[in-house]
Amino acid sequence: MTDTRHILAIDQGTTSSRAIVFDGRGRIVADAQKELPQHFPRSGWVEHDPEDIWRDTLETARGAMEKAGLAAGDIAGIGITNQRETAVIWDRETGKPVHNAIVWQDRRGAPLCDKLRKDGHEALIQRRTGLLVDSYFSATKIAWILENVDGARQRAEAGKLAFGTVDSFLLWRLTGGTVHATDATNASRTMLYDIRRQRWDDELLALLDIPAAMLPEVRACDAEFGHTQADLFGASLPVTGIAGDQQAAVVGQACFDENMLKSTYGTGCFALMNTGRTAPTSRNRLLTTIAYRLGEETTYALEGSIFVAGAAVQWLRDGLKLLGSAPETETLAQQADPESGVYMVPAFVGLGAPYWDSGARGAIFGLNRATGPAEIAAATLDAVCYQTRDLLQAMEADGGEAPAALRVDGGMVANDWFLQRLADLLNVPVERPEVIETTALGAACLAGLKTGVFDGTAGISEVWRAERRFEPRMHAEERERRYAGWVDAVRRVRSDG
Ligand code: G3P
Repeated sequence: MTDTRHILAIDQGTTSSRAIVFDGRGRIVADAQKELPQHFPRSGWVEHDPEDIWRDTLETARGAMEKAGLAAGDIAGIGITNQRETAVIWDRETGKPVHNAIVWQDRRGAPLCDKLRKDGHEALIQRRTGLLVDSYFSATKIAWILENVDGARQRAEAGKLAFGTVDSFLLWRLTGGTVHATDATNASRTMLYDIRRQRWDDELLALLDIPAAMLPEVRACDAEFGHTQADLFGASLPVTGIAGDQQAAVVGQACFDENMLKSTYGTGCFALMNTGRTAPTSRNRLLTTIAYRLGEETTYALEGSIFVAGAAVQWLRDGLKLLGSAPETETLAQQADPESGVYMVPAFVGLGAPYWDSGARGAIFGLNRATGPAEIAAATLDAVCYQTRDLLQAMEADGGEAPAALRVDGGMVANDWFLQRLADLLNVPVERPEVIETTALGAACLAGLKTGVFDGTAGISEVWRAERRFEPRMHAEERERRYAGWVDAVRRVRSDG
């Protein structure tokens, strides 16, 4: 540590906005959080009001600084991390969004994706962007706004509108409309960015009819992104780090060596394996993505994205009312009959990697008269473990080595039963870090590199510490028998086979 000042991390997620003040050793000093209202205008559509995002971000950032008893002068810099892919388009002159943000979960781009596939563009898109053609990514969300908001196309072509993922929109607002930029990890989730040549791809822009004039400048994750307006925090603060939330977690988990793997269990589950300087094309329907760019050096990752993890526990609580709170799943799972034979497939919004079956829907199998909340809670946690195994298998099939350990983070990892089960069903040791708010920590680390709070990636690795390691102890025969039941359950919910 070469600087005793603090870092303010802004973590703008899908369901909440959060700000955390970290000290120079990566310890949490204070935090503030606010739930973000969700809008579902039609089935399969999910929107956020960008003004809510901005207001809550500002409020939580100020709240965290106040709780920490710190003034702007005590903060060395700001790191931003964000829900990825979500698209915002705003007027450059007024700063006003022309439409609500279209959220990553939103499926309205699916017909355009079908057309792109039908017209034979999938291979080109995967080659350039590392992504599969899916409405999950920003491109078809931008195309939808240009097509459906009155006058948007003309204004975009005239250079009057700006597009950004949430980081970019926040940066624009923080800097008083003087900086229109993003970082390489967020750019890599738009389906418009050539991840190898590292530039916006003209051919893909033409294919989707998106004017290049709308796009932000792409910088490294540890770049100088500009200074906040002085009146926001009492003095101007530099923004010195940006990364999409899953990539920020790779940094916060110090997964800096090839084959190191992290998995974040929030609303969904996102597993990223560091693949070093190479960007391998997946043959097993994983995504190739930019893990981080530090200075001129880009590191890639293979990513498996599962859309529902913690959201399934939320459904047990709010939908089925089986639980009063998410942590109760731990006690319930301990009480469950270990041989209940119950399987739950939480395909509420289809299945993500490696299946990419948007028509699949959830199911619970193997119910009998003795099945109760405990068995269903255990089956829900099991499903998250099995899905993680699906991803790890795909990564190995893509040439990755079996991981020495899986570093985990996110809300669900407070549950010891879940993590022991994860180690057992994967046959891989699972490591829980001291700071499970790894996404925010990653943003703070990135911001701290430029300001000298952290001394290179080695300095970040130094502050990473496992709080507990869960060793696998399940017999191989039992593990395979249980997994075979999962494979069968998934087969039964598939819409495409
Ligand atoms: O790709 C979507 C991901 O970035 C969302 O993460 O934690 O906001 O649900 P989260």
